[in-house]
Amino acid sequence: MSKTDPACELILALDVPTREDAMSVLKKCGPQLTWVKVGLQLFVKYGTDLVQEIADAGHSVFLDLKMHDIPNTVASAVRSLKGVPAGMLTIHTMGGPEMMARAAEAAAETNPDLKLLGVTVLTSMDRAGLATIGVDEDPEELVLRLARLATESGLSGLVCSPLELPHVRQELGSSVDIITPGVRPEGASSDDQKRILTPMGARAKGASYIVVGRPILKADDPALAVRRILAELR
Ligand code: C5P
Repeated sequence: MSKTDPACELILALDVPTREDAMSVLKKCGPQLTWVKVGLQLFVKYGTDLVQEIADAGHSVFLDLKMHDIPNTVASAVRSLKGVPAGMLTIHTMGGPEMMARAAEAAAETNPDLKLLGVTVLTSMDRAGLATIGVDEDPEELVLRLARLATESGLSGLVCSPLELPHVRQELGSSVDIITPGVRPEGASSDDQKRILTPMGARAKGASYIVVGRPILKADDPALAVRRILAELR
């Protein structure tokens, strides 16, 4: 990693079942932690009230809802986030350019601080999985095509796996936000993640943000786990 590498920030994946668990781990992590990812598990249960509560506790919220529907429905859902303090939202690039463009327009109109990020090919899908749904393309090529479409359609960035990260960064240049999960500090359990990078490795390969869940959530001292990752990133 060189001194000129752009900054890379930590996002905690708040993959816990209840509001109490969520607020308790955030309290332990303290203000050193800026970004928090809220996924469907918590959002389905608590909705935007929890997003507000997390923002009131001083954190920035990345809403990982992976929206995918017809353009009008996704744009309307994005408009429904008016006034909700979320800084990032995921949508599926497989919804196509019109869906992405309409979503980006809706965000610009109603929530100008909200960045839309594209999800390309889910890492649970391999070449054989894509073939079963009639897609006969190499997953890596499909990821790059969808990533290009996403930025051309007005999205601010992409979520991509450690494997895809260098290619997507090379393809899209430096101005796009790239969010990378599958990150594990040296010595941490990989859990069920198959391809991992260390925080420093992800930064060196071009990640703008790294998403880390269990190494922090399951740590005896979550604040220390966050501190170590931040130290490595800086
Ligand atoms: O606990 P862990 O650090 O593995 O959590 C990673 C987070 O990133 C989870 O919320 C997971 O759903 C998400 N994610 C991922 N791989 C992807 C996309 C999202 O691990 N390809």
